[in-house]
Parts: sequence; structure tokens; C-alpha cells
Amino acid sequence: MRDKIVVTGATSGLGRALVFALAKAGYQPVPTGRNAAKLAALADELGVVGYKLDVSDAAEVSRICAQITDEQGPIEGLINNAGIWLEGDFETCAAADIQAVIDTNTTGTILMTHALLPDMLARGQGTVINTISTGALYTRKMISVYAASKWAIRGFTGCLEVECAPKGVRVMGFYPGKIASDMYKSAGVARDLEVAMTPQQGAAMVLTMLQDKGMVWSHVSGRSIDDYV
Ligand SMILES: NC(=O)c1ccc[n+]([C@@H]2O[C@H](COP(=O)([O-])OP(=O)(O)OC[C@H]3O[C@@H](n4cnc5c(N)ncnc54)[C@H](OP(=O)(O)O)[C@@H]3O)[C@@H](O)[C@H]2O)c1
Repeated sequence: MRDKIVVTGATSGLGRALVFALAKAGYQPVPTGRNAAKLAALADELGVVGYKLDVSDAAEVSRICAQITDEQGPIEGLINNAGIWLEGDFETCAAADIQAVIDTNTTGTILMTHALLPDMLARGQGTVINTISTGALYTRKMISVYAASKWAIRGFTGCLEVECAPKGVRVMGFYPGKIASDMYKSAGVARDLEVAMTPQQGAAMVLTMLQDKGMVWSHVSGRSIDDYV
């Protein structure tokens, strides 16, 4: 039986590249996403079952994760990838946008893990990979809320790494630099992505982290060679 890997935010960018890379590598991706139409089209294209799941909706996270476990059986991996961008001077950020970033990037990741990790621990095997960001490795202006959402997950990931590894479960963080995806455009921010890594390059790194079950890769980061200016 192929290992089943749940991916959040699979409908575009890194998540989309990842579910195709997983399928090609012999895994069974379990794509999830907040947009039902995009998700259905993706699941069709992949020939797998997908689940409409908005990670910022706590009730939906709990209900759909239970459904996934019921219908798919043991879940070997969870890749918390769903995320949104927010940029600007802190005092100009709308309260609703601040809440959405924390609900999605931070609480969404924590609650997805809370829903799927216990079964991995009970089986003494499994992998959780959190897509974090180089924004959680340093500080810079204009990204305070996005950075806060990811720094929180850096702490969460590191604590779970040491808590879960002795129990056979790997919890790891992936810290990519700029990716040529829709993330900035969706947030209404113009960004030159000519120099960014492709979603496929990012997905290849996540796949490498997933594949060797004997390794816990901590703080894996990288950016395109063209992104050094
Ligand atoms: N792009 C970068 O430069 C960069 C750099 C470092 C880290 N990252 C991180 O990489 C991850 C993937 O981002 P990306 O660059 O691939 O951006 P993207 O193309 O915008 O993809 C983000 C995905 O997350 C989904 N999503 C957003 N909110 C969601 C929610 N509440 N519930 C479920 N899914 C939700 C989006 O759904 P829709 O398709 O409906 O929009 C989309 O599928 C994010 O965690 C991001 O923070 C990105």
C-alpha cells in the first residue's frame, strides 16, 4: 500500500507541485484545499480523493481530518503547506487581515497537527513537515505579522521535533526563500519572481526530507541561486 500524505493548500504553488511530485515518487497524495472547485479539478487530474478543507476553520479541520482518517486509513504524512502573505507597515495592516494570517499560517498548522499527529504517535511512525519560511530565520521590516505567524510555527516545530522523535514520529520545518507562486499576487503585492525558486524545486526538497525515514531534517532552508543579489 502506498503511504498516504495529506497536503494542505494543495490547489496552487508549492502545494500543487508537491502533490504531483508525491504521486510520481510512489506516494498517495491526499490533497486538501479551501477552494472546492479548484480542489475537485486537482483531485480529478491526480486521480485521487481530495478534501475541501479550510485550515482557518477549526470545526472543519476537526471534522475533515476525522473523515480523512476514516476513509483513507492510516495517514503516514502531513505536510502543512497552506499559507497566506501579509506585507506592509504594521500600523497599516487591517485587523481582519492580521487575524486571517494567524488563523491560517499558525492556528491552522497547529490544529491540523493536533488532529493527525495522535494516530501517528499511537502507531509509532509518521512524518509532519511544516512549510515555514526564511521569514522565520531573521527579522526585517514590513512583514511583522507574517513573520510572527511563521516564527510561532518555528517554535512549535522545534518543540515537537524533540518531543516526537523518541516516539518514532518526525516533525520537521522547511524554510524556503522566495517561490514563484501566486502568494504575493493573492495578497495584492507586486513582486518580481523572475529570480525565485520554482514550486517544483521547493517540492523536490520537501520530498527529500520525507523520503529517508531514518533522518530528522531540522531547519532545512534554501533559495534559488538567482535570488542572491
Ligand atoms: N511564495 C513564497 O515566496 C514563499 C516563501 C516562503 C514560504 N512560503 C510558504 O509556502 C507555503 C505555500 O505558499 P505558495 O508560495 O505555494 O503560495 P500559493 O501559491 O498562494 O499557495 C498557497 C496555498 O494555500 C492555500 N490556502 C490559503 N489559505 C488557506 C486556508 N485557510 N485553508 C486551506 N488552504 C489555504 C491556497 O489556496 P487557494 O488556491 O484557494 O488560494 C493555496 O493553495 C505557504 O505556507 C507560504 O507561507 C512561500
